[in-house]
Amino acid sequence: MLNIQRPRRNRKSAAIRALVEETKVTTDDLLFPLFLIDGVNQKVEVTSMPNIYRYSLDLMLKEIEACLKLGVKAFDVFPAVEDSFKDKTATKSYDANFFYLRALREIKKQFPEACIMTDVAMDPYSSDGHDGLVKDGKILNDETLEILGKMALAQAETGIDIVGPSDMMDGRVGYIREVLDANGFTDVSIMSYTAKYASAFYNPFRDALDSAPKFGDKKTYQMNPANKSEALIEAELDFMEGADFLMVKPALAYLDIIQLLKQNFNLPIAAYNVSGEYAMVKAAAQKGWLDGDRVMKETLLSMKRAGADIILTYFAKEFAQQVK
Ligand code: PBG
Repeated sequence: MLNIQRPRRNRKSAAIRALVEETKVTTDDLLFPLFLIDGVNQKVEVTSMPNIYRYSLDLMLKEIEACLKLGVKAFDVFPAVEDSFKDKTATKSYDANFFYLRALREIKKQFPEACIMTDVAMDPYSSDGHDGLVKDGKILNDETLEILGKMALAQAETGIDIVGPSDMMDGRVGYIREVLDANGFTDVSIMSYTAKYASAFYNPFRDALDSAPKFGDKKTYQMNPANKSEALIEAELDFMEGADFLMVKPALAYLDIIQLLKQNFNLPIAAYNVSGEYAMVKAAAQKGWLDGDRVMKETLLSMKRAGADIILTYFAKEFAQQVK
């Protein structure tokens, strides 16, 4: 008889494996990004994201209702804006009559119990397709903050729960916190895109919103994928400026960053399982090269295991349907 340790004993049956399971993903952890378009009765699939649609408000309300029944309770709503409404200064982003802000008001009215997050960044409304104000080919920081402040305030006025600054301008969390507080919105939370990398994984999202930069790239504001210490600097600043959640984006190729922030900060950590990560799994599954359902569950699990308390994922509804 060999005298060896036998860790396999804890794997010998499904019942024992369940007892010793360390990490579980549930619908409580998930936040579902949704794409909104203007109009009525519109549901258009995003070409590079099978089973993900841009919805007009009436159909988005139905989608949210279906998700709530499945246990998905949190949503991040992004607007897809027609070119004719885009300009240099993202004027429509704080126009209370624009379809996005009107829709948010209606969503909160119909589903007060749902947690609704909004996106604070210029790119969906910018004729330059950048997250900041462009002047002579440069992305201006402080001038952008003023626009972000107006945008966050206009969103808060609709009754939403969390604003998500996704632009990576310096000082935006503190600036937005001040604007919100000064206007009585002390209860509106900030989920900061803390470590947002200049990643190749965002292309399907830019297809969905038609928001690709018109020139250059986003490397002067989004982080270099090679950098890790810088994520700690960003996290420290966001923490000091008053963020309620710290986000890492993308997720799958940045599990080390998720773990790093989890170990160094006591705020809840969110991971954004981005559009390209979704597209990769779907494409391989469509070809029959991977079992898409199992890969979905395994990747979500890896994010939670790395330290994510919250996962923003296009798989939210599908995951909920499967675990139901
Ligand atoms: C931009 C923004 C992006 C995403 C969310 N907000 C893309 C970008 O930086 O160009 C990407 C989300 C995804 O890929 O799923 N403010």
